[in-house]
Amino acid sequence: MNILIVGNVLKDVYLNLDSRTEHFETDKNGTKWLDLSFDASEHRYFNRNSNYGGAAISFEVLSKLGLESTVSGSNIQFNDDGLVASDPVKAYRYLLIADGGVTYFAPTTHQITTFTPPAESYDYLYIDRSAHIDSNTANKIIAYLEISAKTKLVIYLQNFDNPHLVSLIPRANLIFCEKSSKSNSNRDISADSQAPASESTPSLDPTKTIYFSDDSLSFQEITEYVSMNRIDLLSHLTAYSIASATVLGSFILGYSVEQSLNLAQINVEYSKLNSTIPLSRLQELAEKPENKNDIELIAATLVAPEKGILAADESGGSIHKKFAQLEIDDTYDNRHDYRNIFFTTDGLEDYINGIILFDETARDSTDNGQTVVKYLTSKRIIPGIKVDQGLEKFPNSEETYTKGLSGLSTRLQEYYQMGLRFAKWRAAFEIRLDDNGKILTPTDHAIEENCKILAEYAARCQAANIVPIVEPEIVYDGYYSIDQAALTASRIFDTLFNKLDEYKVNLRACILKCSMVLAGKQYETKSTPEEIGARTAEILKDHVPTELAGIVFLSGGQTPEQATDNLAAVTSHGPFPWPVTFSFARALQDPALYAWKGDNTNADTARSAFKERLIANCEALKKRPDKKAK
Ligand code: 13P
Repeated sequence: MNILIVGNVLKDVYLNLDSRTEHFETDKNGTKWLDLSFDASEHRYFNRNSNYGGAAISFEVLSKLGLESTVSGSNIQFNDDGLVASDPVKAYRYLLIADGGVTYFAPTTHQITTFTPPAESYDYLYIDRSAHIDSNTANKIIAYLEISAKTKLVIYLQNFDNPHLVSLIPRANLIFCEKSSKSNSNRDISADSQAPASESTPSLDPTKTIYFSDDSLSFQEITEYVSMNRIDLLSHLTAYSIASATVLGSFILGYSVEQSLNLAQINVEYSKLNSTIPLSRLQELAEKPENKNDIELIAATLVAPEKGILAADESGGSIHKKFAQLEIDDTYDNRHDYRNIFFTTDGLEDYINGIILFDETARDSTDNGQTVVKYLTSKRIIPGIKVDQGLEKFPNSEETYTKGLSGLSTRLQEYYQMGLRFAKWRAAFEIRLDDNGKILTPTDHAIEENCKILAEYAARCQAANIVPIVEPEIVYDGYYSIDQAALTASRIFDTLFNKLDEYKVNLRACILKCSMVLAGKQYETKSTPEEIGARTAEILKDHVPTELAGIVFLSGGQTPEQATDNLAAVTSHGPFPWPVTFSFARALQDPALYAWKGDNTNADTARSAFKERLIANCEALKKRPDKKAK
């Protein structure tokens, strides 16, 4: 089996610049220019490196799959140092890394790809992503294919701009075609069949076409989710090249479409710059998905010592209310900018193990164009997702149960493929008293039903390789004593752990998120941190099985300072059989929201306010008696 690659061997030059922007000049058309003849001392780039790109990547990928290939007109091969091309490189691409983002510069005039008709007949002729075909080259290819009728033609279309490449479509046995994703609609020219077709846009045979976008590879009904924005590959172009060559190689080796897309996804996810994954390892990773994601390990990482979890998962309705209080317009841009404040806070990963996202944010991208999920993962922060769909009243009752079980497994599968590794489900219990001060709600029925739903949700998460956070919240806003809170928490925990057992939920891969034990906000006697620490520790130790992966607290409407003080008070009753930490939303985010006020000129102040809360809460976690200085 031999493959002839038609394309340009490129050299990708990476310049890691400091964050100043004066390296770039913007001309009157808005085009940015960088003088590449610059003097290092003047421009202060602090790292420069280069790798082969373009057709060299296809060669590298196919070689790692054990397939022999030749780049037409190029003498490219492996030696001890990796890839070497003894023939001139066709073009340089410059990748400028500044401020954690990558800007990509390509030559404005493309080197035309040459094609030297070979004497032998190749099994495959692959016109890869880097090729720039003119009529001369196209005619030579057509002439060669006429003589060598058994040669299968594979072409890569970034767009339909090149009529010479487009003229080869009818002869092609396999086509890779880029279409823009929802989040990055300007980046690539759309070949989406739903987009209005331009006059010259030919339709592609769906049985021969694999579509690529920034977040998926698809063939007819089959879709594999993959983020092409691997910032450490420094160029999403590299990721596209790896994906296409892997699909081609896998097809040639006899893998099904589904398996081939999966191998491509793994290769994009695991490849290093200029070092793609050999076939044996790709197969290993494909066969053992549990190795990719050991849920017990993820659960342990989420509650790793001295860090917490940020709950940035307020639903659309909650965000709307929060914004309304500050007269901030509830627009996509404002929601995006608000979430961004937290994600771009310097050193976030030093305080946070995981972030719970709401669906909208989980599908969003950062301002650098990387998906939020990939961005967080690259910072070693585990992204999670709120999967419940809010509260609904039981018939003829003030009590609620949580919606969202219908279609949950399908949603979890998609979330897993998007890279989300844990989930959250909130049940809410309000303590109401009768005229004699006795507990009316939560009733046994409401506790039983909600715990059953929580257990079913948790079991479904684990089946989808996702760590469940089960959150039975006792609503702080109410009139009840700390004793009544303690009694209610005990009833809920006893039922919950019974149900989790019934549904065979692995507690080592499950996290409890709960309220601290304290008197209701309306109650006349406010609980002191000492009382809260002692009662919370006692109830948890008596009612939570020791094998649980961890316990995290919600803040529930306590002020940020109150939540931190009470967290420190609980911690001072440790060590516990499980890691105990915070998973606050309001107590971490509210000060930043009030500082931001919907105005991005306040973003830095907002980030500082957020960081202050992160530091204070992580300090609170150090209040364990066994950790105190001797
Ligand atoms: P609060 O910390 O604002 O209570 O939010 C935590 C949470 O995730 C509630 O579901």
